[in-house]
Amino acid sequence: MLLGGAGYIGSHAVVELLDDGYEVIVLDNLETGHMKLVDSRAKFYKADLRDIKSLRSVFQKEKIDVVMNFAAYIKVGESVAEPNKYYDNNTGGVLNLLDVMREFNVKNIVFSSTAAVYGDVAIDTCVAEIFVTQPINPYGMSKFMAERIIMDSSSAYDMNYVIFRYFNVAGAHEKYNIGQLGEGMTSLIPVVLEVAKGERDRVEIFGDTYNTKDGTGVRDFIHVADLARAHVMAINKLKKGESGLFNLGNGTGFSVLEILNASRRVTGREIPSVMAEKRAGDPACVVACSVKANQELGWEPKYTNLDDIIKTAWEWYKNI
Ligand SMILES: NC(=O)c1ccc[n+]([C@@H]2O[C@H](COP(=O)([O-])OP(=O)(O)OC[C@H]3O[C@@H](n4cnc5c(N)ncnc54)[C@H](O)[C@@H]3O)[C@@H](O)[C@H]2O)c1
Repeated sequence: MLLGGAGYIGSHAVVELLDDGYEVIVLDNLETGHMKLVDSRAKFYKADLRDIKSLRSVFQKEKIDVVMNFAAYIKVGESVAEPNKYYDNNTGGVLNLLDVMREFNVKNIVFSSTAAVYGDVAIDTCVAEIFVTQPINPYGMSKFMAERIIMDSSSAYDMNYVIFRYFNVAGAHEKYNIGQLGEGMTSLIPVVLEVAKGERDRVEIFGDTYNTKDGTGVRDFIHVADLARAHVMAINKLKKGESGLFNLGNGTGFSVLEILNASRRVTGREIPSVMAEKRAGDPACVVACSVKANQELGWEPKYTNLDDIIKTAWEWYKNI
């Protein structure tokens, strides 16, 4: 069962699981998710993670082997303004879920966490799972607390977990008509492509004096279909009675200028940009080490070329 399976990343995991022959149940309150992203082969329940009674009624009706929890609020800025909303859904929701899993003897959970648990990353090398965790906003903290709750439940109640810390997620599915939807998207690639579409005037580049290859900030962009495949691979680990926590990223850093230039190449559009001040708290470079996921799950990203990642995103954005 996938909670949050009507969202951007969850809907990609749904199709990968279906294509691998799994029976898929989606539970989503459709607050930020969209029914049109849910593959018609999946069974759908409209329900809320915070409502334990409706969770129970789904667990009563279905035989569930593995739960994947994508359901969460995801806006960092909003989490600062409304922290309790984030703790309630992202952390409290996980407590509900674990309680119901215990009640129905469901032993396996895959959890969507985030690189935001690392907080301010000020290192030159890539970020491994052992890196210090110091979330700097309620969003990151709500996910970090949920991670701990899952690990504690695993020790106390004999449950297996796979926790994935995603870095920047990008792109859209090449085979299915699904991708990122939603107002106020703030991540770089959607913003750049909105400028390419003429829906925004220009891209603001926040600083060009960082100690990076071209002075602009460097980030790790992982293709959403690569992430989705990792979730399918996690099932094998859980079925062996094993648990683990893994970073999921490309392992390659792309600078803001590289994203802009790749987007210009892919779209054939001008994409005006303007230099702006550095933003407080923006680290120069954040790149994932995903060696552990490779070694323990056999996972590796297929989309390593930036133009290819942007091409899939552009195919999606230009038609929505
Ligand atoms: N998008 C990213 O770049 C990114 C990066 C790191 C981690 N993540 C994590 O990945 C997960 C999925 O993110 P996304 O980008 O697909 O977001 P999204 O908003 O597209 O998907 C979240 C889904 O969860 C549903 N949902 C939220 N609260 C719910 C509740 N209480 N009950 C039932 N359904 C609920 C929403 O309706 C939506 O369909 C989140 O947990 C997020 O923290 C995302």
